[in-house]
Amino acid sequence: MNIVLTGKNGQLARELQKRKPSNIELVALDRNDLDITNALQVMEVITEYKPEVVINASAYTAVDKAESERGQAFAVNAIGPENLAKACKAFGKGLIHISTDFVFDGQSPTPYQPKDTVRPLGVYGESKAAGEVAVQSLLPEAVILRTAWVYSAHGVNFVNTMLRLMRERKKLGVVADQVGTPTSTHTLAGAIYALVHKRGASGIYHCTDAGAASWYDFAVAISEEARQVGLLPLEKIVQIKPIGTADYLTPAARPAYSVLDKARLVKDLGIELQHWRQALRLVLKEKKVIEKIACR
Ligand SMILES: NC(=O)c1ccc[n+]([C@@H]2O[C@H](COP(=O)([O-])OP(=O)(O)OC[C@H]3O[C@@H](n4cnc5c(N)ncnc54)[C@H](OP(=O)(O)O)[C@@H]3O)[C@@H](O)[C@H]2O)c1
Repeated sequence: MNIVLTGKNGQLARELQKRKPSNIELVALDRNDLDITNALQVMEVITEYKPEVVINASAYTAVDKAESERGQAFAVNAIGPENLAKACKAFGKGLIHISTDFVFDGQSPTPYQPKDTVRPLGVYGESKAAGEVAVQSLLPEAVILRTAWVYSAHGVNFVNTMLRLMRERKKLGVVADQVGTPTSTHTLAGAIYALVHKRGASGIYHCTDAGAASWYDFAVAISEEARQVGLLPLEKIVQIKPIGTADYLTPAARPAYSVLDKARLVKDLGIELQHWRQALRLVLKEKKVIEKIACR
């Protein structure tokens, strides 16, 4: 099977390249090879490679910056997926588009289901919701995979930021009243390839690791697990203080609760999702190996 992957250098795209099954031919393209906001280039690329499936892992992901860069966020997160859906429709190709828990307002008392009404709180969420609408209306057979709190050993993400701060500081304040589910790119890439292989999958799926945590819980786990795998010295005890959203104001509002219901994904793919803490341990072990190699 022949797949075109957009956003080659992003954290999810890197994982998809690393975990590519042997029966898949993957053409990974960066923004220079394929700028998804350029409708003509999107058509040319699909014509050239004739992929059976396009995986859109590219996005404008700067949640706070999006508040002042609305045009750019919508160009990449709404017009880009629209261009891809149009090209996939014209050539009869499949599309797996990645979206986010930030399309929800965080007011639900229970995990969000794929069919739940979206009501984003910020520009990033609005632009991603617009991308979902464009893809669904142009290409109902496409898959939209919503995920949350994504991290990997590489890239700019909460785990890498926390590790850096924990090495530099003795005390940290971390938000304890926003709850979601950390998601390793290992899990996400595995689910995406399973969806690729499952013929006929379409519509909205949710995919995160299992369980739920606040950012504070996540930070405490990072500190404990990082000491276990040797990413932080055993004697390095960082004091992590739970703080409220009101104590850490950001340009974009974030949902207080964005746990996603994964039942449809689990049932249709026949998979089990590992607990987020177990996934974290594996990524930190991988990061330790990467740091060891870099030190040689
Ligand atoms: N990160 C999270 O916590 C999170 C949470 C929920 C959902 N998601 C979704 O998961 C998906 C993957 O996220 P990620 O964390 O892997 O993102 P990421 O690391 O920020 O990577 C996004 C990639 O998209 C590329 N890109 C930006 N504009 C582009 C354009 N016009 N054309 C082509 N490529 C472009 C970027 O290229 P440059 O390197 O050139 O900038 C970057 O490599 C996204 O759909 C995101 O919305 C992420």
